[in-house]
Amino acid sequence: MNTEDFEMLKTGLIYFDNGATTLKPKILSEAISDYYNYYSSNAHRGDYTISIKASNNYENTRQLVKELINAKSTKQISFTSGTTDGLNKIIFGYYKNILNKDDEVLITKSEHASNILPWFELQDQIGIKIKYIELDENHKVTLENIKKQVTEKTKVISIAHISNVVGDIRPLKEITKYAHENNIEVLCDGAQSVPHMKIDVTDLDVDFLTFSAHKMCGPTGVGVIYVRENHLNDMKPIIFGGGMNAEFDTEGTRIYKQMPDLLEAGTPNVAGVIGFGYVIKYLQNIGFDNIQKYEHELREYLILKLKEINEIEIYNENSESGIVTINYKDIFPQDLSIYLDKYNICTRAGSHCAKILKEELKIKNTCRISLYFYNTKEDVDKLIEALKNPNIKNEII
Ligand code: ALA
Repeated sequence: MNTEDFEMLKTGLIYFDNGATTLKPKILSEAISDYYNYYSSNAHRGDYTISIKASNNYENTRQLVKELINAKSTKQISFTSGTTDGLNKIIFGYYKNILNKDDEVLITKSEHASNILPWFELQDQIGIKIKYIELDENHKVTLENIKKQVTEKTKVISIAHISNVVGDIRPLKEITKYAHENNIEVLCDGAQSVPHMKIDVTDLDVDFLTFSAHKMCGPTGVGVIYVRENHLNDMKPIIFGGGMNAEFDTEGTRIYKQMPDLLEAGTPNVAGVIGFGYVIKYLQNIGFDNIQKYEHELREYLILKLKEINEIEIYNENSESGIVTINYKDIFPQDLSIYLDKYNICTRAGSHCAKILKEELKIKNTCRISLYFYNTKEDVDKLIEALKNPNIKNEII
């Protein structure tokens, strides 16, 4: 779908590393260069025409994000530099203040480093306990397995909506309903879900959601934090400076602004946020339901084709997202990725920042094929052709 909008695809590139970052439609660089060439100025700081335009366009993106995820108000939407920044700001700016020693936080071994390391830090700083939700035989999260870990000390379930390696779509609504009935909050890493499916935070009822623009055709260095309304007044900044304060004096008395400005100290990525707004409209025109359906069909096709190759092991055949994780018998995943690059095919090899997932998969490194709407069946055919090459091992040596 829409391959013509991507300059990089015109070179014959086959890009299957969409879990890491996506390609950008031309509309993004046009919007960003329009800002830099014609109204480059700071947002929220100038009383002159171009700065007002920059501020309006910046705020317009906030409105578009609100509509994109069906938040109730723009106060619930703060811009960050990405999901990692978002998770850190939520964990250290909110959970650090409300959790106590021995409170339990549930995560999984398939989480990304950014949803594990901040919790490890908090464990050292205030003595919370991290517990792991057992994954089922398909490496998926089930409500049943969550229930097994819950005690009266459980305060937070912090999980990705879609794992970046296993690609399972977690039953978030069901989890949140159960969690709230038991006074547990849900922090959701939406990095791999918001770009690929319709998200309704009001319906999902999560406490927090954070995601990155660059994984959905947007610029690097822009992300979003969504905060459930009841937590707005409990958010505390972890970065202090201009833009987030209303007043301060020599005695150190200070008044900070309310959300969402409270979390946006310093000059934000004005160009990026404005560009992100254009990309949101672009994706909405394609339609998130169409994107999800298309990717699912392409995934089914990919799995079918991969299964024709005896040497391929698929680790997540039964997942639902466009993430397919494999290994080729007796080929080190990084060698496979380098081999595929010779055919202009981009994949990602390694542990994909999910470094304790090896305890579940029983393998440390894999090669990941992650799809997006601009990938085609022809791309898959070329990948399969390269993988079926009888000389594959010789070419790698
Ligand atoms: N989190 C990104 C990935 O999964 C970088 O590749």
